[in-house]
Amino acid sequence: MYRSHTCGELRQENIQQTVTLSGWVQRSRDLGGMTFIDLRDRYGMTQLVFNLEDNSELCMQARKLGREFVIQVEGTVIERSSKNKNMPTGDVEIVVTSLRILNGSKTPPFTIEDDTDGGEELRAKYRYLDLRRNAVLQKLKLRNKVALETRKYLDNEGFMDVETPYLIKSTPEGARDFVVPSRMNGGEFYALPQSPQTFKQLLMVSGIDRYYQIVKCFRDEDLRADRQPEFTQIDCEMAFVEQEDILNTFEGMIKHLFQEVKNVTFDGAFPRMTYADAMHKYGSDKPDIRFELEFVYLTELAQNKGFSIFDNSEAVIAINAKDCSEYTRKQLDALTDWVKRPQIGASGMVYVKFNNDGTIKSSVDKFYSQEDLQAWGKLAHAEKGDLLLVLSGTLEKTRKQMNELRLHMGDELGLRNPNVFKPLWVMDFPLLEWDEDSQRFFAMHHPFTSPKAEDLHLIDSAPGDIRANAYDLAMNGVELGGGSIRIHDRELQSRMFDLLGFSKEDALAQFGFLMNAFEFGAPPHGGLAFGLDRLVATMDGSDSIRDYIAFPKNNSGRDVMIDAPSPLDESQLKELQITLDLK
Ligand code: AMO
Repeated sequence: MYRSHTCGELRQENIQQTVTLSGWVQRSRDLGGMTFIDLRDRYGMTQLVFNLEDNSELCMQARKLGREFVIQVEGTVIERSSKNKNMPTGDVEIVVTSLRILNGSKTPPFTIEDDTDGGEELRAKYRYLDLRRNAVLQKLKLRNKVALETRKYLDNEGFMDVETPYLIKSTPEGARDFVVPSRMNGGEFYALPQSPQTFKQLLMVSGIDRYYQIVKCFRDEDLRADRQPEFTQIDCEMAFVEQEDILNTFEGMIKHLFQEVKNVTFDGAFPRMTYADAMHKYGSDKPDIRFELEFVYLTELAQNKGFSIFDNSEAVIAINAKDCSEYTRKQLDALTDWVKRPQIGASGMVYVKFNNDGTIKSSVDKFYSQEDLQAWGKLAHAEKGDLLLVLSGTLEKTRKQMNELRLHMGDELGLRNPNVFKPLWVMDFPLLEWDEDSQRFFAMHHPFTSPKAEDLHLIDSAPGDIRANAYDLAMNGVELGGGSIRIHDRELQSRMFDLLGFSKEDALAQFGFLMNAFEFGAPPHGGLAFGLDRLVATMDGSDSIRDYIAFPKNNSGRDVMIDAPSPLDESQLKELQITLDLK
């Protein structure tokens, strides 16, 4: 028997018991005749005591133990004279009577503490050691709890967990595919699924009715804090449902998860906003509504006053930063530099201060009278002490830039409290998105999303204006999930592929299996998928998903621990009939 208890288990009621524990040496301290060791495992930490007088040989042995040695001890639980209120086991300690070293350890390359001295790269290389740190372990525990409660909720609602294949067919829509060569079919490739989208729709044709899967998805796209090349979805699909049924079911799931995992209750229904409103008010399809700073359109007021930058802009947009009129020159310069960084791309920023003494001071005083600026202030509901920040340019770009500035100000003003959770359904997305570069439409969500029946008449005249039966759940500025009611009619599906510029042959070659399935009694259906990594990170108040993944990739898509990707052997390439032509 390696252990009778875990290192997180012993309490006052265990005093006088003889126990056996196994774990890792967290730290050891010699205080004259006593040696103290903190023994750690997944469950917690327990203090061990070795007394030089009582057992000098054992004590000398204990003094030689290094950090992260794996040991087994037997001993008696006693009450601690100086209790540690910060440790669940802090009322007791173990007087050790026997010690066995199960395995030694090299000195770890960084300290296994909450506040470690290890840099990101080093910790990634030794991720298995990083995972020993309590702070990281807690994140995996949270993820486990969320996944477990997800299964409980969906099972209770009659959803069936069905696995779908990972080796599938490459399709041109969406992000880039990761591809896998087939040895048995030389010159041919599988693709790893970007999501199980078509399979879950086929399961609806099969009559599965309510499907879910907690499933890995793979996308070869540029990485960011909230994007990994392989990530996990809570993927769901339902048949015989309307949009409202889906929203209710999954609003219920999110409420269940927050209740069970965080003890957070949401009162009433989640707010909803159309995509058009979200873009108008916040310049984002996933607005953070923990704070206001709504956009104010100054375009009409600001034009024709001789300021050519605004005159030549499609949009002049402001936000009203409350109580910020005392921002210094330095602070305003820093904000201007911030919006001018290439990632944001603004050409400049105008400010208007509504000073506490009633004066108005702006960076464009040369062009605008006090009355002009007062009119801006009125539109923006500016009061004494407020500061307007103004950007201009084309509508789309200015909205995007102002969204970034709004979030930045939200951070700067402490308005983005990580312990406040504000969900928002964003509804009625456009069906299509025009791509200037390739001069064609792309599906905004994916090509299986159904158009709104009342917009179908626009299909020839103004396809860009068609709205889709598509919805996203945003929370705190993060897109947690999204989905749609699907097309279940072959004719409409093939019309959609036309609109997306597929030839009949291409559409058949790529998606013939789905269109054929639609000819065999496809039920009306729809669904959605949540990003599990993002959901867990958001619930924990973090915007980086990497910490919530046991073995994540770095920003270049590398796993630095196992050193992947890596070249293949000549013999492997030969077997796959692949010759490399690297530039
Ligand atoms: P979508 O592409 O919106 O929809 O993905 C659903 C959710 O998955 C998460 N997500 C990611 N998380 C981490 N890293 C990534 N690279 C990444 N990409 C996406 C997001 C997102 O909201 N099949 C459809 C769903 C449907 O229509 O039912 C789909 O995949 O949280």
